[in-house]
Order: sequence, then structure tokens, then C-alpha cells
Amino acid sequence: MTKKNTIIITGVAGFIGSSLAKKFIKNGYKVIGIDNLNDYYDVNLKIARLNIISPRYDRFNSFWNFHRLSIENYDQLNNIFEMAGENLIVVNLAAQAGVRYSLENPNSYIQSNLVGFGNILEMCRKFDVNSLVYGSSSSVYGGNTKIPFQEKDQVNHPISLYAATKKSNELMAHSYSHLFNIKSTGLRFFTVYGPWGRPDMAPMIFAKAILAGEPINIFNNGLMKRDFTFIDDIVESIYRCCLKPSTKDTMFDSSNPDPSSSFAPHRIFNVGFGKAIDLDYFITLLEENLGKKCKKIKMPMQAGDVVCTNADTTSLQNWIDFKPNISVEKGVEYFSKWYKKYFT
Ligand SMILES: NC(=O)c1ccc[n+]([C@@H]2O[C@H](COP(=O)([O-])OP(=O)(O)OC[C@H]3O[C@@H](n4cnc5c(N)ncnc54)[C@H](O)[C@@H]3O)[C@@H](O)[C@H]2O)c1
Repeated sequence: MTKKNTIIITGVAGFIGSSLAKKFIKNGYKVIGIDNLNDYYDVNLKIARLNIISPRYDRFNSFWNFHRLSIENYDQLNNIFEMAGENLIVVNLAAQAGVRYSLENPNSYIQSNLVGFGNILEMCRKFDVNSLVYGSSSSVYGGNTKIPFQEKDQVNHPISLYAATKKSNELMAHSYSHLFNIKSTGLRFFTVYGPWGRPDMAPMIFAKAILAGEPINIFNNGLMKRDFTFIDDIVESIYRCCLKPSTKDTMFDSSNPDPSSSFAPHRIFNVGFGKAIDLDYFITLLEENLGKKCKKIKMPMQAGDVVCTNADTTSLQNWIDFKPNISVEKGVEYFSKWYKKYFT
């Protein structure tokens, strides 16, 4: 039997990272987790996620260990990679997330998403890394109005610094893939929701308000659509991409370059459910599952936001033979059950 890879997951205390770590450990992989546990949102939620990652949770057991550090700290990161051994797969999910906060605290995006990501690429170059999978975002589609979004669309018009850093990550990773033959895969996640979600995102903000009997602010007068994607579908997609490192596209035509593919071993995939859901409908599902109605206050569009997101997932499906499949009705039911159990 071939030796299983060791998986380094950055952002492991985060929404997506913690769920992914569970999946790898359950499947017999060793996971080395990295997170700086910053206070962008409730640190207790991050600690609670860490505590349920492995039934054998212990900072230094043979399946799972955790290191608190910032990926922009080159020396500390280097120490972890030095200790990690061989046969590594790196999943970079550590980032300053959130579109709106990038107007308030741009430096945090520059540090985590650019300096930190640059360090991750350097580690991949320096150590025996099999492949890199990293979190990009649907926000790279910026002001595009052609629906659904496809990886071959031009994404040169970001409307937030957050989106600009994610697009930069794709460019940085491509150059490292080309120069140092690092097999890397960028995944553009579409509005992820589910148990252990992020308190700064709409599903958690809405659930909190509904249960507290408070009104909900809905932006763009409620005329927003999102491609809501359930966490388990995201985790399955990342997992499969980790097990299938990117390859060079032998059909790539440099005289007519397709942005979704490359002569380097670098690929980009949308990871979304594939349907634009009206925000109003999402709120109605939440109300039904939480057993309470709420008042909605219509607000104007917020700077940096987009009206509609919708993923074409054909490329992902062709690559990993998997299509996100958990309906929004089921997903909101699972999410609401968890929310009530955790918060009430
Ligand atoms: N959740 C979504 O809907 C969504 C959508 C698109 C893209 N993404 C991307 O997916 C990735 C994971 O998102 P998430 O929803 O799990 O976010 P999250 O904020 O829950 O997780 C990120 C984790 O990274 C940690 N972190 C942040 N900066 C760090 C740094 N410099 N060094 C070390 N740790 C750091 C945070 O403490 C946090 O625990 C991010 O790259 C995010 O931009 C998420």
C-alpha cells in the first residue's frame, strides 16, 4: 500500500477548514492544521470547531495536530513545513474573508491574502509538496453580468479589494505552477452555508435576527440572488481536488489563451450548487425551519457587493466526477437544526 499524504490545512479553525480537516482525518489522513485564531469574528466559535475536528483531539496525536500562527510569519511557517515530513498536500484556506470588511480594514487583506499566500507558495517551492489547493472566490467575477459565471470568462474587473486579492492569488499560483512545476488548483467558492458557519455571513446574521425577533436588513431592496452552496458539497469538492492534482492542459492554445486552463499544471474551478436563489426565498426557508417570521427592512445596494452569483460547474464535474447536489431546502434544514442546537 502506498503511504498516504499528510495534509496541511491553513485556516483550519475556520468554517470550511475545520469541516475539511474532519473529512481527511475520518479517511485516515494525518492533518497538520494552522490558524492564527484572529478575532475577525467570535474566537470561541473557532475554538469550538477545533475541539470537534477529531474524536481523538489532542494537540499532538498521530492524526491531527494544530499550530497557532499567521501564514505571513515566514519563519514559523517554515518550521512547520520542516517538521511535516514528505508527501504533502497543502490546502490554503487561511485568508481574510468578507467583501464588506475590505473597505474597513484593507491591510488585513494585504497581509493574509497576499503576503501570507506568497509564503504558502514559497513553502510549496521549497518543500516536498505534491500539490496545492487554495480557496479563491466567486467574487472574482466582479461586475460581470453574464450568467452563469464560467471559468473561461474574463475576470479583470473586481469591485472589492477582497476580490482583487483572490484574483491575485490565482495569478501568483499560476506563475509558481509554471516556474516550479507546482501542481495547483484554485477553487472559486460560491456563498457557502451550513453548520459551523461564519457569523459575518447572511445565513448566520439572518438566523440570529429571526430567533431574536429582530428585523433583517436586506440590501438592494431584496433583489439579490446567491448561488448558496452547502458546506458538505464544498468539502467533497476540495477533497476530490486534493486527490487529483492539476495537470498541464496539453490542448492549451497559447495563440488563443483560455483563462480557465493552462500550459502550467494549474487549474481553476467554480464550486457552487449551480442555481441563483432569491435572497427572499432563502429567508423564507430560514423562517420556516426556525419557526419564526421576521420583519425585513429594504436597504440600498452596498459598495463592493454584486447583485447575482451563479456558477457553471461543468468543468468541476468533468474533472472530479462530482457535482454539488444538496438542495437549498435540505441545506437550510440541516443548518437551522445545527443553529438552534448550538445557540439556544
Ligand atoms: N465561506 C464562503 O462563502 C467563502 C466563499 C468564497 C471564498 N471563501 C474562501 O474560503 C476560505 C475559507 O473561508 P471560510 O468561510 O472558512 O472563512 P473563515 O474566516 O471561517 O476561515 C478562515 C480561517 O483562517 C484564519 N486566518 C485568517 N487569516 C490568517 C492568517 N493570516 N494566518 C493564519 N490563519 C488565518 C482565521 O482565523 C479563520 O479561522 C477563505 O480563503 C475564503 O476567502 C469562502
